[in-house]
Amino acid sequence: MRQTILLVDDEPDIRDVLSLSLADMGYHVYEAENGDEALRIFKDKQPSMVMTDIKMPGMDGIELLKKIKHENPETEVIMITGHGDMDLAIRSLKCEATDFITKPINVDALELALQRVRERIFTRQKLQEYTENLEILLHEKTELQSHLASLGLMIGSISHGIKGLLTALDGGIYLLDSGIAKENEVRIKEGWDTVKLTVERIRKMVMDILFYTKERDLRLERIDIRNFVEEIAKEIEPKFKSQKIKFVDDFEANLGEFEVDVIYLHSALLNIIENGIDACIEDKTKESHQIIFGARRHEDRIILEIIDNGSGMDSETQDKIFTPFFSSKGNRGTGLGLFIANTIIEQHGGEINVKSKVGQGTNFKLNIPRKPPFKGKEAPLSL
Ligand SMILES: Nc1ncnc2c1ncn2[C@@H]1O[C@H](COP(=O)(O)OP(=O)(O)OP(=O)(O)O)[C@@H](O)[C@H]1O
Ligand SMILES: [Mg+2]
Repeated sequence: MRQTILLVDDEPDIRDVLSLSLADMGYHVYEAENGDEALRIFKDKQPSMVMTDIKMPGMDGIELLKKIKHENPETEVIMITGHGDMDLAIRSLKCEATDFITKPINVDALELALQRVRERIFTRQKLQEYTENLEILLHEKTELQSHLASLGLMIGSISHGIKGLLTALDGGIYLLDSGIAKENEVRIKEGWDTVKLTVERIRKMVMDILFYTKERDLRLERIDIRNFVEEIAKEIEPKFKSQKIKFVDDFEANLGEFEVDVIYLHSALLNIIENGIDACIEDKTKESHQIIFGARRHEDRIILEIIDNGSGMDSETQDKIFTPFFSSKGNRGTGLGLFIANTIIEQHGGEINVKSKVGQGTNFKLNIPRKPPFKGKEAPLSL
C-alpha cells in the first residue's frame, strides 16, 4: 500500500517542488497551505506522516504539530526549518516531532529523513503485532493453566474416590470369603451386596467422568413424560426399599410429551434422586424419611420436583453444589453429579431451583420446556 503524506507550507513554490519529489519517491501527497487546512485534511485522510513548515502565518508549525499529536500521537511529523531556526527546531523535537530538515531542501537529506520515519513506523507496527501476539499467548496460557488445574482437581478427586471404592470392595470380598469359608449365607449375601453396590458406584463415577470430558450434542426424542418418570421411579425403587426410605410419586395424570435427550435427562434425575437418598441416610435426626418425586405441567413447561426430608444444606453449601468436584461426602462422592445435572437441564433450555434447610430437607425443582428452544445445542463442557 502507498504511504500517504500531508505536506504543509504557505509557499506554493516549495509545495510544488516537494510534492513532486515525494510523488517521485512513491508517496501519495496531500497539500495544505496553512495550519487550519492541514488539520482538516489530517482529520479526513488520516495520513501516517506530516511534513510541515515551522514558520507560517496564522497557526505556526509547532502549534500544528501539537494539534496533530493530540489527534493521533502515532503520526510521524517532520518539520521544515529555515537556516537559523535552530531553537525552533529543538522546540519542535521536544514536542515530539520525528525529525527536521532545513531549507533549501536537499533531496538526499529528504530521502534519508523519510527512510528513518518509515523505519519508525515499521518498528512500531511490529511492536504492536508482538504485543497483540503476547496478549493472545497470555490468554492461552491462562486457559491452559485453568484446564490443568481442573484436570488436577479431577485426577485428585477420582483417585480419592477410587481409593474409597477399593476399600468398599475389599470389605465386600472379605465378607464373601469368610462367608464361604464358614458357609454363612447371611455373610455371603452381605458381601455380595456390597460388591454389587460398589460396582454400581464405579459405573456411575466412570459415566460422570466420561460426561465431563466429552462434548456431545443433545439427541432429542419425543417421548411420553409419564412413561419416562414412571420408569425412573421403578428403577430407583429397590434403593429406597433397601434404605427404608419411603418413596412417593406424585405424577399429574395428563403430562403429555416432551422433546428431550432421554439418556441425559435420565442421568440428571438419577443424580438428584441419589443425592436425596444420601441426604436421608446421612440424617439421623428423624424417625422416618421420604422422597417425593413429582411431575406436573405448567403451560408449555414441565416441572419435575424431588423433595427429600434428609439432612438439608446450609447456604454456603448451596452456593457450591453446581461447581464441579464439590462434594461433602469425602471419598463417597466425586462432586460431579449436580454439575452434570445442571449442565444437562441448561442444555435443554431449562433451569434448576434449589431450596434447602439444614435439618429439614431439600427441594429440587426442575423447570424444563417441553421443546428445547434450540436443536442439539453443543454441550458447553470440555476439559
Ligand atoms: N438433596 C441434598 N441434600 C443435602 N445435600 C445435598 C443434596 N444434594 C446435593 N447436596 C450437596 O451437594 C454436594 C454436591 O452434590 P453432587 O451430586 O454434585 O456430588 P456428590 O453427590 O457429592 O458426588 P457424586 O458426583 O458422586 O454425585 C453433595 O456432596 C452434598 O453436599
Ligand atoms: Mg451426587
